[in-house]
Amino acid sequence: MALVTWNDSLSVGVRSIDKQHGVLVELLNELYDAMTKGQAMCVTGRLLERLLRYARIHFSHEESLMQAAQYPGLALHQLQHHILARQVEDYYERLERGEIAVSVHLLHFLRDWLTQHIQKDDHAFGPWLNDHGIR
Ligand SMILES: [Fe+2]
Ligand SMILES: [Fe+2]
Repeated sequence: MALVTWNDSLSVGVRSIDKQHGVLVELLNELYDAMTKGQAMCVTGRLLERLLRYARIHFSHEESLMQAAQYPGLALHQLQHHILARQVEDYYERLERGEIAVSVHLLHFLRDWLTQHIQKDDHAFGPWLNDHGIR
């Protein structure tokens, strides 16, 4: 079973962003799958790294669209992205040092980390981008 299932509440109404959110959901589900199948740490670690790398690409993409549309909440949103990336970097570093393993607790954290940011913060700029011709 998937950890996160795509549904309309995750759509922000901008195609490229929805597509990238879909990839993040897939990566998260892959990590969940690997963990529940008891995959080795090198596998789960690599998947977490991929998730982090793609999240950084995604954050930059959102920021460039917000910048293009002169979204007034850009600076705050950038800060939120910075904090979100830092949280996963921390987990990844602890994993690399062997202090933690990929666990249900971590997966639940990542699920909330992704869905809450999309549903609350990303949703806030969707209509603004639409109004500025970005769909
Ligand atoms: Fe996003
Ligand atoms: Fe965002």
